[in-house]
Amino acid sequence: MSIQKKIDTIIKSVGSINIQDFVEISNFDKDSGFYNKPSIEKIGKNGQFITSPEISSLFSMALANQFLKEFPNTKNINLLELGPGNGLLTIDIYHYLKSKNININDITLLERSDYFRKKISEKSELKVNFIENINDYKIKDENTLFIYSNEFFDAFGSKQFIFNNGNFNEIKISKSNDKYFLIQDSAAISGELIEHYSKYKFKDNDIIEHSNLVLNLLSDIQNLNCKKYFFTTTDYGYTKFPLKSTLRILSNHKKLSLFDKFENVDYSFGVNFELLSNFFVKKNPSIISQKELIYNNLPNNYLKSSDKNIMEIIDLISGEKFNDIGKVFLNFSFKRNETISKI
Ligand SMILES: C[S@@+](CC[C@H](N)C(=O)[O-])C[C@H]1O[C@@H](n2cnc3c(N)ncnc32)[C@H](O)[C@@H]1O
Repeated sequence: MSIQKKIDTIIKSVGSINIQDFVEISNFDKDSGFYNKPSIEKIGKNGQFITSPEISSLFSMALANQFLKEFPNTKNINLLELGPGNGLLTIDIYHYLKSKNININDITLLERSDYFRKKISEKSELKVNFIENINDYKIKDENTLFIYSNEFFDAFGSKQFIFNNGNFNEIKISKSNDKYFLIQDSAAISGELIEHYSKYKFKDNDIIEHSNLVLNLLSDIQNLNCKKYFFTTTDYGYTKFPLKSTLRILSNHKKLSLFDKFENVDYSFGVNFELLSNFFVKKNPSIISQKELIYNNLPNNYLKSSDKNIMEIIDLISGEKFNDIGKVFLNFSFKRNETISKI
């Protein structure tokens, strides 16, 4: 069944569908969702959009060097990537670390899409384990873990709420006379949202995005049973609520408006880096721009190269030229390094 038919069926039975469910079905429905449907190329030049790991392995080199600065003497590493897509980032990180004589104990990928899991299993020369939940991840106490992701959090569905007369209403999608439109429904968690975001003075028509799916994942990372790890994630997003919808709809490298098209479309949201930062505040996290990530972590022979190709690649992976997005690309990272007490 097509995505549109599935959405219509829900609207017909309950009157509307919220934005989070709409996006989750569109992206991850088992048969027709963007990330599962086998018949369409997804990420890359021939796909619907392109990402930094697909542009060049220099992006992975920058991430691996960011990790090595934090754990310079480690010779045994476990890799864990969240949302690998085609899997290029992990392959490049693996080869880069190997070239530095570092041993990779094992490689684990958290990937929800059956399509990407199958593609990676069939095409990758590396032995990888897939997990569906971070709680399933196990590591020996003495091992160091490198957790990384690129454009992962933006693929999570988020609810949208609009402020009016002192309350938040939830934005939902409805349909009548063959036309889709947005409605506002009273939200039981309005008070909770106002309290949660009490530092903001909201005005009428301000919109916020709030995702329990993201919050649950952050809790899982927080509870990870691992004493020594470095976590880094890069995405487009913001450090203060933009107070409007950040929903981005892409197909064939072009931006679309909601309801233009339902099939073969990728939906994503700007990532709330302030939320990430608050969540891991005790770990003293750092937020830098993607440009800083690249310039702080690539060797000078690339940064100072006069080769036009390299200069163009560095420009692209610095995240400032993804015109189809037009948002700010940021990197969030922190380190956990607890000494293991011996009895
Ligand atoms: C925008 S793509 C980015 C892929 C890749 N990291 C890249 O940069 O090309 C988002 C990826 O995250 C995966 N993903 C999204 N939500 C997920 C979740 N809840 N659990 C596991 N994987 C998820 C998608 O299936 C997809 O592989």
